[in-house]
Amino acid sequence: MIRLNLQEDTSFEKLPVSVYANPEEASIVVASRIADIIRKKQLSGERAVLGLATGDTPIRVYKELIRLHKEEGLSFKNVVSFNLDEYYPMLPDAEQSYVSFMYNNLFNHIDIDKDNIYIPDGTLAVEDIPSYCIAYEERITELGGIDLQLLGIGRTGHIGFNEPGSGPSTDTRLVTLEDLTREDASSSFGGKENVPHQAITMGIGTVLRAKEIVLIAWGEKKGEIVQKAVEGEMSSDVPSTFLQQSNNVEFILDEGAAFKLTRFATR
Ligand code: PGA
Repeated sequence: MIRLNLQEDTSFEKLPVSVYANPEEASIVVASRIADIIRKKQLSGERAVLGLATGDTPIRVYKELIRLHKEEGLSFKNVVSFNLDEYYPMLPDAEQSYVSFMYNNLFNHIDIDKDNIYIPDGTLAVEDIPSYCIAYEERITELGGIDLQLLGIGRTGHIGFNEPGSGPSTDTRLVTLEDLTREDASSSFGGKENVPHQAITMGIGTVLRAKEIVLIAWGEKKGEIVQKAVEGEMSSDVPSTFLQQSNNVEFILDEGAAFKLTRFATR
């Protein structure tokens, strides 16, 4: 008798992956995980240190956090946030800055103390960047480290702006953006020629030091790179593969972003 194995085969996956029907459902799960950390820390009188990401992907997570604040009384008074990255050069009040993004999509709508918000400064003189980056890392350490780091993934395999070539022990630093990354950003800048060539980003080492890491990705456009990050060999050609080193990482995907994983692709 032939026995059919209807279990999904996750044996090719080198880190934990959860797949939800759509980005809305997945975003609610991620937001509630963040809210749980914030509430747990409140009960013990501690700060919750969040590592936050920009881009289209986390917007629904931030919407749900705002809803939890407005409708369910979730307070962010004990939250300190560190953003992953910022374009360089970039004025904070420019429409495309990650400062504007974070205030428009989250900070303006919750009760976080503005002094507890850290976003890399895109206005520094080049010679001041190295000491600024060291201070950024030190501040994270002084505050006890990042409790939860939220990540998106770029089509180059970047996390933050750690483009191919970035190693697993990189810290916060000035980096050069890949052509594909600048192309993906071109619509918000009114053309690729207006996208900055550089950025300040936390390193992969910075990310790996977080106590929990959650990478989110939606849509088939991300399917191929997600498959490489999850099932590929660790390599600086695809910097997100270094997340396989973490003992506390989870990829949270919608069905589109998961479609190239072996368990779905071979169905
Ligand atoms: P996106 O960007 O959320 O806009 O797709 C993700 C990233 O580049 O890290």
